[in-house]
Amino acid sequence: MDTAPADLSTLTVAVIGGGVMGGTLFRALLAVEDPRVAHAVVAETHAPRRAALLAEVADLVVGRDVRATVDAVEAVRGADVVVLAVKPQDARATLASLAKDLGRGTLLLSICAGLSTTTLEGWLPGGVRVVRGMPNTPARIGEGATAVCAGSTATPADLDLVVRLLGRSGVVLPVAEDRMGAVTGVSGSGPAFVLLAMEAMIDAGVELGLTRAVAHDLAVQTFRGTAGLALEPGAHPTLLREAVTSPGGTTAAGLAALEEHGVRAGIAAAVRATYARDAELGA
Ligand SMILES: NC(=O)c1ccc[n+]([C@@H]2O[C@H](COP(=O)([O-])OP(=O)(O)OC[C@H]3O[C@@H](n4cnc5c(N)ncnc54)[C@H](OP(=O)(O)O)[C@@H]3O)[C@@H](O)[C@H]2O)c1
Repeated sequence: MDTAPADLSTLTVAVIGGGVMGGTLFRALLAVEDPRVAHAVVAETHAPRRAALLAEVADLVVGRDVRATVDAVEAVRGADVVVLAVKPQDARATLASLAKDLGRGTLLLSICAGLSTTTLEGWLPGGVRVVRGMPNTPARIGEGATAVCAGSTATPADLDLVVRLLGRSGVVLPVAEDRMGAVTGVSGSGPAFVLLAMEAMIDAGVELGLTRAVAHDLAVQTFRGTAGLALEPGAHPTLLREAVTSPGGTTAAGLAALEEHGVRAGIAAAVRATYARDAELGA
C-alpha cells in the first residue's frame, strides 16, 4: 500500500521489543476502541516478559488476533505498522535483520531516543515510511506525553494514524523533527526529574518529623493535584504560583530558598544536558 490504511480494524501492528516502553505501547494500542486494531503481535526476546505482557492485555484480546513471539522476523511479515521499541544501540542490527521481511509500504514507528528519521531511513529498504515518536513512562497509565514527527516520505495520513494508535497512551503532539531532542529533555526524561523533586520533598518531610508514609502521600498528591490545576483551561504555572504566594508568607520564604539554591537553573540545566546526550546518541 502507498499510504497507511485509516481503518484500524484491518490493520496488523507489530511491536519489536516488549520492554518498558514497547510493552506500554502494545497495551495502549490494544486499548484503542472504535475501531479496534484487529491483529497485533509483540516480539520480545525474554520469555517471562512475553508471558507478563499477554497476561496484562488479557482483558483486551477477546475476539482478536493478539500474540507474543520471540521471532521479530516472523512478527513483521505482513505487518502494516511496525513499532521499533528496542534500545537505540540495538536499532541498526534489528532493522538489518528485518529488512527483507518488511513489506514495501510498511510504516515504521520508531521510539528510539536520538535516532533521526534520516538515519532510520538510511538503514531501511526503499518504500518503508518512517514516523518517529518520543513517549514517556506515564503512558503506562494513559497519562503519557508523546511527540511525533514524520520522516521524508511519511504522509500526513501516516502521522494521523500514529496519533490514533497512541491515543490511549495520553497526549500525542506533532513537532518538527529538529525539536525532538528538546522533547526528550522536557517529557521523555521529564518523569525522572519530577520524581527526584518528589523524593526531595518526601525526605525533607521525614526530616521534619512526618512518617515516611504520610510524607510520601502528601508529596505525591501535591504533584498530582498541582498538575490537575495547571491543566485547567486558561491556567498558567506562573499565575498559579503567584496566587499561592502571599507577601512575607511561608510559601514566599520557600520559593526564595529554591531560587537561592539554583533549583530553577538546575532544572533547566537537566533539560539541556538531556538534549545534549540525546544528540550524542544520535551522532
Ligand atoms: N523507557 C523510557 O522511559 C523511554 C522513553 C522514551 C523512549 N524510549 C525508547 O524506547 C526504546 C526501548 O526502551 P525500553 O526502556 O523499553 O528498553 P527495554 O526495557 O530494554 O526494552 C527493549 C526490549 O527489546 C528486546 N529486544 C531487543 N532486540 C529485540 C529483537 N530483535 N526482537 C525482540 N526483542 C528484542 C530487549 O531484549 P534484550 O534485553 O535481550 O536486548 C528488551 O527486552 C529505546 O529506544 C528508548 O530510547 C524509552
